Formats: sequence, structure tokens, C-alpha cells
Amino acid sequence: MLLSGKTAIISGAASPRGIGLATARRFAAEGARVAILDIDAGAAAEAAASLGKSHVGVRCDVADRASCDQAAARVLESFGAIDILINNAGITQPVKLLEILAADWDRIQDVNLKGVLFLSQAVIPHMRARKSGSIACMSSVSAQRGGGIFGGPHYSAAKAGVLGLAKAMAREFGPDGIRVNCVTPGLIGTDITAGKLTDEMRTKILEGIPLNRLGTAEDVAGIYTFLASDLSAYVTGAVIDVNGGMLIH
Ligand SMILES: NC(=O)c1ccc[n+]([C@@H]2O[C@H](COP(=O)([O-])OP(=O)(O)OC[C@H]3O[C@@H](n4cnc5c(N)ncnc54)[C@H](O)[C@@H]3O)[C@@H](O)[C@H]2O)c1
Repeated sequence: MLLSGKTAIISGAASPRGIGLATARRFAAEGARVAILDIDAGAAAEAAASLGKSHVGVRCDVADRASCDQAAARVLESFGAIDILINNAGITQPVKLLEILAADWDRIQDVNLKGVLFLSQAVIPHMRARKSGSIACMSSVSAQRGGGIFGGPHYSAAKAGVLGLAKAMAREFGPDGIRVNCVTPGLIGTDITAGKLTDEMRTKILEGIPLNRLGTAEDVAGIYTFLASDLSAYVTGAVIDVNGGMLIH
């Protein structure tokens, strides 16, 4: 097993069809104890229980610094150590540039970008003290190509910000034994996109994907597992595409 004896925090991991919960399942199957953090406390508890007794569900609003600090403290109390942090929580809004209101800009930046900062700040002092840790952050193909399919320009901006922030963290904390990497998924079938894809859109999108299918939450979970595990021990500051070839650099 790739994550035997390790402990992991995964943010935004309570949604039943989401990337976070698929990752939690994979981590648990690889031998990790998992803390599911989500703004939805009930769903976090339920998701953790579905994994088994050694996992915990903790309410956390990643856009709120105190909430991140409290959640990290709760996980430390339960597990005694945190080896892995997956900054996965995110929200989107499919609008055009001229429609973006100030409040929408703020909430999209707050959850997708500031949330990565706050939860990392809550966990890094502990990882630094142990001289060990792996952090993976959720960006998107939307950051790389100026829009995915469902995210507005404010979402692209936030996810591009995640790339810069993660690379800066990789540089600053490499000497402390902490690795920081990003994943950039293409279109993954989860609740964030559910019900929004017409057959016509789907056919058009598939024409641009060499592997000729949409991604699954498990496709992304596999890459998070690689980045969390010692298989990637010499990888930091990297960005891994999970897009079926939708964007080939
Ligand atoms: N689905 C895709 O096509 C796709 C592509 C690229 C990137 N992403 C990113 O992947 C991540 C996971 O998305 P998903 O597709 O699994 O969607 P999802 O909606 O199923 O999961 C998002 C989770 O984040 C939680 N969340 C929302 N706001 C939060 C907050 N303030 N604090 C803590 N948790 C919060 C939600 O409750 C939910 O459980 C997001 O960051 C998303 O932007 C998704």
C-alpha cells in the first residue's frame, strides 16, 4: 500500500460524487487515515463514516482562517500528526467577464485561492516541525487555457493564482522537507458540472479530447495519490495535467 501509516487532510471532500471523496476512498484503500474537511459538517461526518472507523469528518470553511486553524487542531488531536494536505475545495460560476459582480469575484477567490493559503498556513508549521510533508493543490485546465468549460474568468484567475502560490510554497518549504505540487484537471464528471452538460456540448467537448472521454473523479484521485506518496519523493513545484489530452503543451 502506498500510504501505509500516513495521515491526510482533504478539503472539500464530502460531496458524494466529488474528486475529494474519491481521493479519500483511494487514500484509505492505500492505508492512510483520512480527515475529511468540508463546509458541510453533516456531509463531512457522513463521508468519513462511510470510509470506516479510523477516519474523521470535520467542518471547515477554507475561506475562514480561524476555521482552518480549528480544523487542523482537531485533526492533530485525532491523528497526532499530519503527513498529507490536499487543498481540494473549490467553487465555480459559469459567467462572462462583464457579468462578474464584486461579491462573486470575492467569493470565487476566497474559496479557490485564499482557501489554499489559509489551510496551508494552518498545517505547514506542524509539517515544518517534523521536516516532512506533502501538499497537493487543486488548480484547473481553466487556469492554463483561459477558461475550462464551466468556470468564469474569475475562476480561471483564482486557479491560476493557485499555481503561483503552490510554486512559491514549494520553493519556500522545500528545505523543510515539504513538497508542494498542483493538479490541473480538464472536465471531470462531478456535481460541479452535473446537469449542465447538454448532449450537444458533450459531443463538441469530446472532439477536443484525444482520449475521447470525460474524466472521472478516480482519474484525479490517482494523481493525488501519486503526489501524496513517496513515489513522488523528488517532485515539487510540479503541475500535473489530468485532462485526457484536452490541452497538450
Ligand atoms: N469537476 C471538474 O471538472 C473540475 C475540473 C478542474 C478542477 N476542479 C476542481 O476540483 C475541486 C473539487 O471539485 P469537484 O468537481 O469534486 O466538485 P464538488 O462540488 O463535488 O466538490 C467541492 C466540495 O467543496 C466543498 N466546499 C465548497 N466551499 C467550501 C469551503 N468554503 N470550504 C470547504 N469546503 C467547501 C463542497 O461542499 C464540496 O464538497 C474544486 O476545487 C474544483 O474547482 C473540478
